[in-house]
Amino acid sequence: MKTRITDLLGIEIPVIQGGMQHLGVPSFASLVSEAGGAGTVNRTCYGSNEEFEKALDEMNALTSRPYIVNISLLPDASVGDDTLETIRICGRKGVKAIETAGTNPANLVDAIHEAGIVHIHKVPAVRYALSAQKAGVDAVTVVGYECGGHPGRYDVGSIVLTRKAAKELEIPLIAGGGYADGYGLAAALCMGADGVVMGTRFVATKECLLHDNFKQLIVNATENDTLLCQQSIRNAFRVADNGCARECLELEAEPPVTIEKLMPVISGQRQIAAFASGDTDDCMFPMGMSAGLVEDVPTVGELMKNIKEEYEQAVATLTSI
Ligand SMILES: Cc1cc2nc3c(=O)[nH]c(=O)nc-3n(C[C@H](O)[C@H](O)[C@H](O)COP(=O)(O)O)c2cc1C
Repeated sequence: MKTRITDLLGIEIPVIQGGMQHLGVPSFASLVSEAGGAGTVNRTCYGSNEEFEKALDEMNALTSRPYIVNISLLPDASVGDDTLETIRICGRKGVKAIETAGTNPANLVDAIHEAGIVHIHKVPAVRYALSAQKAGVDAVTVVGYECGGHPGRYDVGSIVLTRKAAKELEIPLIAGGGYADGYGLAAALCMGADGVVMGTRFVATKECLLHDNFKQLIVNATENDTLLCQQSIRNAFRVADNGCARECLELEAEPPVTIEKLMPVISGQRQIAAFASGDTDDCMFPMGMSAGLVEDVPTVGELMKNIKEEYEQAVATLTSI
């Protein structure tokens, strides 16, 4: 397989494991890279740049193949020395690409390029993709309404978004939101994308480091079993329909709503505890509508092999029509 994304990242299969808070760690992400895709290590998994640097050492010991680091840019937060140091560490450790997400990355483009790193920016709308292209990023990921995590506030599904982004952009495009198998990969490439990002699908793998109950929740879920929370604080968040998400929506139904008011339900600490204990009702669990397509918990290696085979079946079907 050869696309502008396989060329840009030096990978074999244009499938990227999306950044995942608390889960994007070397023992897992390295397996995606080893299987021919691109794994992503999250900077947010580490409390300090020192810990993050050690994680990259671990990553480099586990794989010599290209991988990505996800850096979350909080809206309204200025880029501090800490982020610039993160980028320098990535440069020193040979990180292939940085994926920024959250707000306009224009003030990081030069630093990322000076460190010799490919800059991918993730957005939920074509207008932001065009701004990122103008700012000089090398590729964009555009995620639709279906996606697990943050789908933005325009509520446009991935079919329209992928095709529209492919038509408007000149730089390589990674499509995301609802893609969970090789048929989705083939569809995205047919629409003009150069690769796909998958989040929800990768959570339900044997090696993803969270309690099996959450993986079974994904397997048992239908495409109707997600909720969109946090719209009241302009930070829409697609999560599994569970007790915690319902509690969040109840709090949101009573104005005024502030982040402080929601914090007891949306806190990351609550997520860390539930991911370990297996209480699937006790945290906000990012999960996309693609959960309805997930029927098994394979190893990462098996998953990547299945995606490739399904892609080939899809292409064969198209060719025979
Ligand atoms: C459990 C989980 C955690 C996520 N955490 C992050 C994150 O920390 N940063 C980020 O940019 N995206 C995050 N995402 C979004 C994914 O990187 C990806 O964009 C999204 O899952 C794609 O949609 P899909 O779930 O339909 O595959 C997360 C997704 C999931 C499922």
